[in-house]
Amino acid sequence: MQSDLKMQDGFRMVCVDDEPQHLSAMRRLFRSKPYELLMATSGAEALALLERRSVHAALIDLKMPGMDGLTLLREVRDRHPQVKAIMLTGHGGVESAVEAIRLGAVDYLEKPVEPESLCARVGQLHKIWSLESENQRLRAESQIDNGFEDLVGSAPAFQELKRMIARVGPADASVLIEGETGTGKELVARAIHRHSKRSTAAYVPVDCGALTESVMGSELFGHVKGAFTGAAGNHLGLMRAADNGTLFLDEVGELSAAMQVKLLRTIQEREVRPVGADRSHPVNLRILAATNRNLEEEAAQGRFREDLFYRLNVVTLHVPPLRERREDIPHLVRHFIDKFSTEPHPTALNGPAGDLGLSEPLAADKASSNGTGQSAPAVDPQAMACLMNYDWPGNVRELENVIRRAVAIGLTATLTVADLPPKLAAGAPEPIGDGVYPADDSLAAYEIAAIQNALAKSDGNRRQAARRLEIGEATLYRKISKYNLN
Ligand SMILES: Nc1ncnc2c1ncn2[C@@H]1O[C@H](COP(=O)(O)OP(=O)(O)OP(=O)(O)O)[C@@H](O)[C@H]1O
Ligand SMILES: [Mg+2]
Repeated sequence: MQSDLKMQDGFRMVCVDDEPQHLSAMRRLFRSKPYELLMATSGAEALALLERRSVHAALIDLKMPGMDGLTLLREVRDRHPQVKAIMLTGHGGVESAVEAIRLGAVDYLEKPVEPESLCARVGQLHKIWSLESENQRLRAESQIDNGFEDLVGSAPAFQELKRMIARVGPADASVLIEGETGTGKELVARAIHRHSKRSTAAYVPVDCGALTESVMGSELFGHVKGAFTGAAGNHLGLMRAADNGTLFLDEVGELSAAMQVKLLRTIQEREVRPVGADRSHPVNLRILAATNRNLEEEAAQGRFREDLFYRLNVVTLHVPPLRERREDIPHLVRHFIDKFSTEPHPTALNGPAGDLGLSEPLAADKASSNGTGQSAPAVDPQAMACLMNYDWPGNVRELENVIRRAVAIGLTATLTVADLPPKLAAGAPEPIGDGVYPADDSLAAYEIAAIQNALAKSDGNRRQAARRLEIGEATLYRKISKYNLN
């Protein structure tokens, strides 16, 4: 569409007047304003300009040879309704002023125009435009957020990933999604589709590792009746099922060499030839692919076709492993507890965390609810420390399974270390105070925990806390600022 090509930056206004000295006067008048001024000496010139540039306002002289101001106004209203027009009329031209307003001009000013009132009117238009653009920007931003409900995570690396999804989604480029197993590559692929112009068309995932070579061929490309023994009818195939939509090739590194060739041909020629068919069918696909291998290295070593790799990898998105965004673990734990414990738990109402000799559940947990009107199970600090310390080789999927298991074995009011699988529980740190656990085995983690413990026991009084820690107050201040403990 034409308007996509037009620049959308600042406020732009076109002045249309057949008298060059009037145009010069306008240029002088608006020189110090944050507007871009375009000049046209006739209606035809103005219309040509509006086709090329995105313009927000127009100052139109009523009397011009050739196309007069009112005719131009009518054209502008029909072809570029977003342009706010101010008419400049001759002295006493009440009738044409009324006509101009009837035709949609936002205002008219009598010539000779008083510079202050003209500046004031244009200033108002600029302000309205700024507010509208800001509104549009906020709407677009909230739409970006809207597409991510199922992708939990706000660590910097994850936020960057969401930003990239919102950016590459609408572009039609192929995207290669890299990441370890269980990091959420499939969710990322779906989010890209949701953010794309194809969002209302089909999204077709294909597990490239799950099928044997021969089945894969007919699954992907379809087959015609009689193509092989057992091919009783025509089969459309996943590629044609995804026509005009998105095809997600999961575990693309598993594709056999022969399949890679066929896939490459389809992508290059935008055509699918079903197994056994003598002609091809055009397809319009956006291809997303995921891999937990290093496909570039595989390509370099000849295990994956390099030409196909470059076709798939127009944009790469890397989904970070969970251990590199540990700050998201509490949110994910909360998310999965809510997801799996939608059934009301009889003990969830009255099983006090204090009975277990542990401190209060995390403040955020207390506020959370599972939608049943009862509070969802909380997570005690020692269990949370285990969850935070574990390395999660299976990433989010493994965490999801740990919580699913805890809920299945009967989670009561609080998730404790006893609800965790042994390999996680084995890593349970000893508390160094009431509910204070070092985040890992490092000296810094113990120091942080010791400071938090001392501050908690001193009600936040730093002098007392320093005495408890047997360090100087200045040292405590330095450490608080070093570890960002405010
Ligand atoms: N950021 C996240 N927020 C919420 N749930 C997530 C997130 N990331 C992953 N999950 C959940 O974890 C599970 C694994 O995600 P997914 O299948 O997308 O991973 P994957 O990277 O495709 O794994 P694999 O490489 O094994 O195919 C899914 O149940 C998914 O819903
Ligand atoms: Mg997957």
